[in-house]
Amino acid sequence: MARIIAGVTSSHVPAIGAAIDLKKTEEPYWKRVFSGFERSKEWMAKTKPDVVIAVYNDHASAFSVELIPTFALGCAAEFPPADEGWGPRPVPVVKGHPKLASHIAQSVILDEFDLTIVNKMEVDHGLTVPLNLMFGSPKEWPCPVIPLAVNVVVYPPPTGHRCFMLGRAIRKAVASYPEDLRVVIMGTGGMSHQISGPRAGLINSKFDKAYLDGLTKDPRKLTRIPHMEYMREAGAEGIEMVMWLIMRGALDDKVKEVYRFYTVPASNTAVGHIILENAPRATKSKRPPRAMRPAAKGAAKGAAKAKRAAAHEAKQDLVRSKR
Ligand code: DHB
Ligand code: FE
Repeated sequence: MARIIAGVTSSHVPAIGAAIDLKKTEEPYWKRVFSGFERSKEWMAKTKPDVVIAVYNDHASAFSVELIPTFALGCAAEFPPADEGWGPRPVPVVKGHPKLASHIAQSVILDEFDLTIVNKMEVDHGLTVPLNLMFGSPKEWPCPVIPLAVNVVVYPPPTGHRCFMLGRAIRKAVASYPEDLRVVIMGTGGMSHQISGPRAGLINSKFDKAYLDGLTKDPRKLTRIPHMEYMREAGAEGIEMVMWLIMRGALDDKVKEVYRFYTVPASNTAVGHIILENAPRATKSKRPPRAMRPAAKGAAKGAAKAKRAAAHEAKQDLVRSKR
């Protein structure tokens, strides 16, 4: 069975991509940003996921005001880098995982999330910059990446709660995929930033740090933040953070925070990054089966209770999602 083992968030500031492409990563301004991702790259190299699901947003590169899907899942075999005005970035073509992506599309759509299926798409800095931050600049990306594009550009974006519930549905979809794959899910964009208008340059570190805390410890509280609060507290583009809740919804309720990094600014944006791991799946022990042990009755009772609690939780999620 496939399994989501960890979730990662990372900002996607386009100037980070330009700093890499123009070989400015050693300049003090950029070194401060990139040094925060050294441990992350080590973690990624050690974790070696079989597939990454990258939740990101397109910035009028693949889509435009003519076509605005709320959630669009990349089911193609390849996603070339988009030309954002200066030619395509010199990064590898993103190789997808059509089989897993189609499986996720089927499972999630039958679970009543109306995803758009995308069989041809170019990807912009929203996806390529986070890949650079987590993988560096290899000749080929080390594993297949399934892009999930979320509309956070044109009003109305999805609510944080909807995003969280989509994450839950993705988790279920991945868990029902027969092949043994270790999947990492990324939530990208954020943190606080506003790139135009009288409040351009707005950064709110207090909001950002509380959001990072909430992401680890109490993500359901974050799902109740209304759009206006993101706009007011974190700037117009701060709304990108709802994408992080898809990542978080796809993880267990309890996670281990293995790394966090926050720095201000990169271009107009607060860079926030966190790595969360699910508890490892219980390995098969050599002990005799529970039924043969004296405490079996109590344990069975505990298991039944946990099953009832999980069913109750799933029902509550459904109730919340229907509100
Ligand atoms: C900046 C940040 C973004 O998220 C983006 O899409 C474009 C620009 C910036 O900080 O300059
Ligand atoms: Fe952006």
